[in-house]
Amino acid sequence: MELYKDIEKILFTKEEIAEKVKELGKRISEDYHGKNVLLICTLRGASVFFSDLIREIDADLTIDFIAMSSYGASTKTSGEVKLTKDLATPISGKHVIIVEDIIDSGLTLKYVKRMLEARNPASLKVCALLDKPEGRRTDFEGDYIGFTIPNVFIVGYGLDYAERYRQLPDIGILDPTVYTK
Ligand code: IMP
Ligand code: MG
Repeated sequence: MELYKDIEKILFTKEEIAEKVKELGKRISEDYHGKNVLLICTLRGASVFFSDLIREIDADLTIDFIAMSSYGASTKTSGEVKLTKDLATPISGKHVIIVEDIIDSGLTLKYVKRMLEARNPASLKVCALLDKPEGRRTDFEGDYIGFTIPNVFIVGYGLDYAERYRQLPDIGILDPTVYTK
């Protein structure tokens, strides 16, 4: 794929990602055995991970979508989170898992979690494929984490830079010359 010319290094291949998604799905299946669970996809970054993850979960589940923005065309968070699309269904009394692509500063998820907690779900957990603990600007921990990575900017498997690179099947470090030009 042409886009790979901008990738400095592949961090996780699609096979490694598939293996990890399977593991996460298995853990969630065990924890929610016999329950109904609502999986919430945070658009747009988590969409690819989400569609793979739900197919690895052996439990009664329904799905919904939410969108918020904080980045714009930058590699650093603005620190301001905006809800741009709300859920279509009420979550009161439900077991809910928010599915996110990556936790960096933690600001986005802290905001979303607080907002959803106010709607009184039976339980509320967070599943993120990737975690960059060095980027934290607030105390926030996910419940199900795929890969923990250092402070590098990555793209692929749904993750973007300025809305591009989302379709790469692998996850790679973006060549810094792409965003320091
Ligand atoms: P946080 O509020 O800083 O935790 O931001 C999390 C959001 O920032 C994620 O949902 C991504 O959309 C974006 N993000 C953080 N790190 C990266 C990265 O390395 N590549 C692409 N997007 C990222
Ligand atoms: Mg993003």
